[in-house]
Amino acid sequence: MSAGPYEIVDHAFDVVVVGAGGAGLRATLGMAEQGLKTACVTKVFPTRSHTVAAQGGIAASLSNMGEDNWQWHMYDTIKGSDWLGDNDAMEYLAREAPEAVYELEHYGVPFSRTEEGKIYQRPFGGHMQNFGGGPPVQRTCAAADRTGHAILHTLYGQSLRHKAEFFIEYFAIDLLMSEDGACEGILAWKLDDGTLHRFRAKMVVLATGGYGRTYFSATSAHTCTGDGNGMVARAGLPLQDMEFVQFHPTGVYGAGVLITEGARGEGGYLTNSEGERFMERYAPNAKDLASRDVVSRCMTLEIREGRGVGPRKDHIYLNLDHLDPAVLAERLPGISESAKVFAGVDLTREPIPVIPTAHYNMGGIPTNFHGEALNPSAEDPDRVVPGLMAVGEAGCASVHGANRLGSNSLIDLVVFGRAAAIRAGKVIDRDKEIPAANTEASDRIVARFDKMRHADGAMSTAMLRDRMQHAMQEDAAVFRTAETLQSGVSRMKQIWGDMSQIGVSDRSMIWNSDLVEALELENLMANAMATVVSAEARHESRGAHAREDFVDRDDKNWRKHTLAILNEKGDVTLSYRPVHVNPMTPHRDGGIDPAKIAPKKRVY
Ligand code: FUM
Repeated sequence: MSAGPYEIVDHAFDVVVVGAGGAGLRATLGMAEQGLKTACVTKVFPTRSHTVAAQGGIAASLSNMGEDNWQWHMYDTIKGSDWLGDNDAMEYLAREAPEAVYELEHYGVPFSRTEEGKIYQRPFGGHMQNFGGGPPVQRTCAAADRTGHAILHTLYGQSLRHKAEFFIEYFAIDLLMSEDGACEGILAWKLDDGTLHRFRAKMVVLATGGYGRTYFSATSAHTCTGDGNGMVARAGLPLQDMEFVQFHPTGVYGAGVLITEGARGEGGYLTNSEGERFMERYAPNAKDLASRDVVSRCMTLEIREGRGVGPRKDHIYLNLDHLDPAVLAERLPGISESAKVFAGVDLTREPIPVIPTAHYNMGGIPTNFHGEALNPSAEDPDRVVPGLMAVGEAGCASVHGANRLGSNSLIDLVVFGRAAAIRAGKVIDRDKEIPAANTEASDRIVARFDKMRHADGAMSTAMLRDRMQHAMQEDAAVFRTAETLQSGVSRMKQIWGDMSQIGVSDRSMIWNSDLVEALELENLMANAMATVVSAEARHESRGAHAREDFVDRDDKNWRKHTLAILNEKGDVTLSYRPVHVNPMTPHRDGGIDPAKIAPKKRVY
């Protein structure tokens, strides 16, 4: 089949998963296990997906190292979300977490062990005993400080065992959408030989990760360009809660590389230029283990008030030199190396210079807790998009609401990757034909691709990306005001306009990284625009969205999800949908007591 000058290679599958991080692989494995003909299409080799960088661990109330239960985990997740998360999805996460972790153990994940041989669990920010009453609970299951690495390798091996087919170093360009709004597959570009491939499928699962690279300083890999979100935006579907961007307290100053929260879980603490453990002042109970948005704001305040460290007084110290070097070697070997390589610091002797760094996107493609993508309407805020699912950081179920707790990301990946597979097993009609080739949609996608390939404007991708990253870093940061956000919106509009002057100098089809980066920039731009416009419109402070001109949370007017729809000119139309306040299980049937999870002031 040809589309203009391009030959298209056709494939037909029951399911196509796009992305091979933790969520993509867990979904792929779950689909293949059920005998569904499953393809996993990924732009990087699976074990190089960004999940490999997840360090500290995966949350589940196993109670291996002290009392714990799913209700406490659910409560902490709700409080962490600042009451914006969907209670049914958060119940599902907390309830399913132990089984999902034991499954990983049985698949072969080499977890660290207690003396008795159980899975080792460490404290992490915002995870507490007694419905937030404290003290911190040891809930985060760890494989030293390389937990994501261990999970990714295990899931890849298991997926191969179940005969999932991998299409590696294929860049997904766009969704094949039918006239009546169903997803029928994707069109992708095979990077190593330049061919185009149409993957027709009964179900497409977007597991494309976050869009950290919209910011100048991020813990995310350079591949985190929000490609699935970009595809969804171009399909005219909404993105949800994009204003909520998490800054991790401890990115290495200058390099942005992650130093796990597990470092504070093992006893590390932050100090300012006066040597003060300032978190004791802001969060007397949880201290350095308060929720990440809280710690990042406190660090920023210390720096602003002149108590930052270093010659420019613009960062903070993370101290680990008081810990037993044997503990550091056993529990935190990865960050010992990162501190040496990226900060030139021997952490057994010196503090690590750190600064809040863009880390995670709570928003993304709206889904229900089965992973089905939503296209809400006024009549039906939970309307499902046929043939489309989204999981992991690309999806917004919403289990993290306005702020995610550390170690709730890895558990989100496996619980919802698994949930999507369970749902797909139920809704896919195995006897039905796989959709026929959608040539009109293919032609549109190829035309966009070809236009970008031959773009001959004066502005390079690198130049435009740098402008976008600085606009986001400066104007949509830890603290926000109408002034910064309006400046961000107007800078982003300018950059969007200038995208018409982009120039791609390499016209080849094989290993054309110039073109890949230009296509990734289009995806990043859609994400950045939705983020800054949604943030400007939300007139309250909630979770990671801290407005200095609206300092309080406003449940009456703003306990609702933002939906952002973009058009080709970069105009964003906003609407809102209600938060799911009812848990999955009624109290009378063993569900959580609604009084326990009613909104209240969030203090740690
Ligand atoms: O700090 C960390 O290890 C990061 C974990 C997470 O984002 O969940």
